[in-house]
Amino acid sequence: EEKTSFPGVADSDYAKEEERRMSAEAFEVVRQQLGRSYLPLINGEYVSTSEVIDSLNPSNFSEVIGKVGLISVEQAEQAMQAAKAAFPGWRKTPAKQRADILRKAADLMEQRRAELAAWIVLEVGKPVKEADAEVSEAIDFCLYYADEMERLDQGVIYDVAGETNRYIYQPRGIAVVISPWNFPLAIACGMTVAALVTGNCTLLKPAETSSVITAKFTEILVEAGIPQGVFQYVPGKGSQVGAYLVNHVDTHVIAFTGSQEVGCRIYAEAATLKPGQKHMKRVIAEMGGKNAIIIDESADLDQGVVGVVQSAFGYSGQKCSAASRVIVVQPIYDAFVQRLVEATKSLNIGETELPSTQVGPVIDAHARDRICEYIEKGKAEAQVALELPAPEQGYFVGPVIFSEVPPDGIIAQQEIFGPVLAVIRVKDFAEALAVANGTNYALTGGLYSRTPSHIQQAQTDFEVGNLYINRNITGAIVARQPFGGFKLSGVGSKAGGPDYLLQFLEPRTVTENI
Ligand code: SER
Repeated sequence: EEKTSFPGVADSDYAKEEERRMSAEAFEVVRQQLGRSYLPLINGEYVSTSEVIDSLNPSNFSEVIGKVGLISVEQAEQAMQAAKAAFPGWRKTPAKQRADILRKAADLMEQRRAELAAWIVLEVGKPVKEADAEVSEAIDFCLYYADEMERLDQGVIYDVAGETNRYIYQPRGIAVVISPWNFPLAIACGMTVAALVTGNCTLLKPAETSSVITAKFTEILVEAGIPQGVFQYVPGKGSQVGAYLVNHVDTHVIAFTGSQEVGCRIYAEAATLKPGQKHMKRVIAEMGGKNAIIIDESADLDQGVVGVVQSAFGYSGQKCSAASRVIVVQPIYDAFVQRLVEATKSLNIGETELPSTQVGPVIDAHARDRICEYIEKGKAEAQVALELPAPEQGYFVGPVIFSEVPPDGIIAQQEIFGPVLAVIRVKDFAEALAVANGTNYALTGGLYSRTPSHIQQAQTDFEVGNLYINRNITGAIVARQPFGGFKLSGVGSKAGGPDYLLQFLEPRTVTENI
């Protein structure tokens, strides 16, 4: 067993007056900058575009966070050519030098912590406490992957008499990163800096609804000293620019986080050899989940209720790690549902700028409408245990809890990505595990139990990438809970873990007869 001592950075402590004041000031500063324009970065230059979109505040969509230029396919090709031109220099740049750029970026993010958190709050509607934790996660990715690259750079030596054997890693080439809006800084940063520190030239295409935050991240990488062409910020339409880059003959690695539908398409497209292509593409895809928490009859219900509420409704259920099913054994079912409903009623919903707020809006009108459709479907197949009213302004959906949900029902099987929780009644722990495993996904899962045999069995039989026992199931920490799933939740190894960088590298063996 390997032990790591990676410390991780601390979140803001909003119990302290000083830190609350810094946060309030950051919001003032950021508000004065709303509505500015952000341009793509191609070959070290910010370039203008013919298409521009508005990025809106989901809590108040009359507020334009920024105007973002979207690149054309021709500009995507220019970015690819610039990446190719920069690659020979970047691959030969010593690992330590590449790692130091990540460390510098981490420093800059720490200095701008309150401001970055404010941009996250305003652009994607994440409550400030979680936005601040996201800044910590982005910093941790930089520091951890910097250390990891230096570790891998040492390679492995297998010398014998008369022969040296060196096991070494080289970069793959050009990486295309396609990042999601729900962790607009942390996940975009994690995938990007992993690709960069391993020596790949990297193009970052963010989700349209979070392009301003990724523009801020771009400023940071440039200030940290990333050479021109090595990193490029290429906001654009997924169906057009994203698809073009995925299919490009010169793309070597695609790191994607997003929906299962898009992930599967990328996987298929990347597998098709294009004319002139002399390599197979590597795809890393983090996709969805239909994550369950099991509550058995020995569970501490107080603890279980708190963990389920946090896991289901934190950031309005818009985390791939969120709990969307809770599976409760018969003897405690009624008591649990009653307590769950009461606890959910006491959530603070609305003002995302306040550290006490737990639930904000959903990302946009399309998401709100889709979630509301699922709520209607839920009403046709289960009972409504709670439906909270939503604040009027913004794209809010009040948390909804369904009880007596059939395990194969629509709302028990399909990822909703909103504040909708399905409670399922089972007779015993064995049935609970079978129901928990009865979806296409395997991302996170939880168990509340004080029964050692159940805890033991869950460790072997609960099919999830990240299993949490007697705690909430979101908020994985870098180098403490390496994060990622299997089955249709994703392909590739875990973010923030010891195998992650290997996916961006090509191992080689050099033997010399002496
Ligand atoms: N890593 C996040 C979490 O654990 C999800 O992407 O909540």
